[in-house]
Amino acid sequence: MSYLEWATMEIQIAPSILSADFCNLERDLDRIANADMVHVDVMDHHFVPNLTIGEPVVKRICEVTDLPVDVHLMIEDPDRWAPGYAELGAHSVTFHAGATHAPVRLARQLHDMGCEAWFALRPAEPVEPLYDILEEFDTILIMTVEPGFGGQKFLANQMPKVRRLRDEITRRGLKTNIQVDGGVSPSTAATVAQAGANILVAGSAVYGAADPAKAINEIRDAAAAAYRD
Ligand code: DX5
Ligand code: ZN
Repeated sequence: MSYLEWATMEIQIAPSILSADFCNLERDLDRIANADMVHVDVMDHHFVPNLTIGEPVVKRICEVTDLPVDVHLMIEDPDRWAPGYAELGAHSVTFHAGATHAPVRLARQLHDMGCEAWFALRPAEPVEPLYDILEEFDTILIMTVEPGFGGQKFLANQMPKVRRLRDEITRRGLKTNIQVDGGVSPSTAATVAQAGANILVAGSAVYGAADPAKAINEIRDAAAAAYRD
């Protein structure tokens, strides 16, 4: 991808329902109708020290929302569980580098099922070992907090990693998206977009706002203005 193509690449906002009201999920999904996708955090109490939702709830989310469903698996053994989420109708399934045993096989299996394969790195995990298998993934998620909880402070120290990855993607003419997740808000959106991220997850900044739809627009506008710089 040329610099010009990159500069016109669309910023996408993915609100995380981790900060929504789990007793009013359908209502809270309606509140983010102007988002580009909905980000669903699946945690298993093993890969991360938190437990959220699994297949039955994700199944209903896929049924009731018109938005593409971006399933972020923070679980052990995604090789075993990820295809089940593709089966339920997820647009994309993200699995972690530190949890998968056969990332290429799993990515190809998801693609065969018509689902995008996204690959995630925790803050201490380097991006360079991924370069040999970069083409297997539609999106790389660079975590900007330690995964497990919403509402944590944004880790600006991940920006050099985002920048190096964007440079590598550009150099190779790929169309890979870079997603960031953790601490993204109207005030950090410009920083991540400038570094080269184009899919921004935001949980507390969206659902903690009085008007979630307005917060989505603010994050999108701040990011879009920054990467056109
Ligand atoms: C954290 C999750 C995030 C979380 C982000 O491990 O992966 O998706 O919901 O929440 P905020 O935007 O509040 O940092
Ligand atoms: Zn997430």
